[in-house]
Amino acid sequence: GGDPQLRYVEGQSIGIIPEGTDANGKPHKLRLYSIASTRYGDNLEANTVSLCVRQLQYEKDGETINGVCSTYLCDIEPGTKVKITGPVGKEMLLPPDEDANVIMLATGTGIAPMRAYLRRMFDPGERAKNPEYQFRGLAWLFMGAPKTPNLLYDDDLQRYQSEFPENFRYTTAISREQQNAKGGRMYIQDRVLEHADEIFAMIENPKTHVYMCGLKGMEPGIDEAMSAAAAAKGLNWSELRPALKKAERWHVETY
Ligand code: FAD
Ligand code: A2P
Repeated sequence: GGDPQLRYVEGQSIGIIPEGTDANGKPHKLRLYSIASTRYGDNLEANTVSLCVRQLQYEKDGETINGVCSTYLCDIEPGTKVKITGPVGKEMLLPPDEDANVIMLATGTGIAPMRAYLRRMFDPGERAKNPEYQFRGLAWLFMGAPKTPNLLYDDDLQRYQSEFPENFRYTTAISREQQNAKGGRMYIQDRVLEHADEIFAMIENPKTHVYMCGLKGMEPGIDEAMSAAAAAKGLNWSELRPALKKAERWHVETY
């Protein structure tokens, strides 16, 4: 019921233009946020969009700085009109194939697009809405969070796992509660290494797609883990990755 009506698909983002002006008196620039709902929205009526926003906060010269747009979004009152742009983005679209395998690597709010995919795949209301998309492949989510209570949407994900044990695997890396093999913080790339054989067996299947979303800093770590895992199978990751990218099976959105 928006004005104009917003139409989007899973994996796209929208831009938010916060109220007010910047230090130069100019209107604020837009910030992008991954859409966390399916095209039907959380109420299944196709008139809402959900985001998963973390308020940016950091210390500078002894002062706490709040990010402009994330603070605006986290503080707005229900009913407030918000200026949005988009939807935009092709990088993170989900293949229409019901038999695809979907490996998801997420840290923090990087769970947003994955939440949309997993609702589309496993939420009963969504399945009823989509006779042409009754997911039958394997969806495997690797989720990184500092502590157990920071695991976003955990209840839903646990439910999908118990209802669709053949189709959904959920592997967490809780950095500040668990240790990796070297005694350091457990990150999702450590989990990727632990399951390297299965992951590479899946990647050999042309129906398998990999999605990465969240902290930019995770990219080198994932690359390193994939290189080591590929080498153990006699494969060269620096050749394989561009080939996967070209085949539109390697999807990255980090920020
Ligand atoms: P700003 O006021 O713009 O402040 C950010 C600036 O602060 C940085 O550019 C940097 O100059 C400075 N800064 C930041 N940290 C520090 C530090 N530690 N020390 C010193 N300076 C620092 N965010 C989400 O929460 N959820 C999402 O789903 C999401 N999806 C995104 C999808 C895409 C494709 C992209 C590009 C970004 C996404 N983001 C998401 C990030 C989001 O767009 C904003 O960048 C974020 O919310 C911060 O914006 P802000 O206006 O609050 O911060
Ligand atoms: P940590 O902060 O303990 O070092 P959030 O955005 O909610 O804080 O969660 C991000 C998660 O990703 C945290 O568990 C964080 O760990 C982890 N993380 C931080 N840096 C990296 C990295 N380079 N590669 C993978 N995971 C990372």
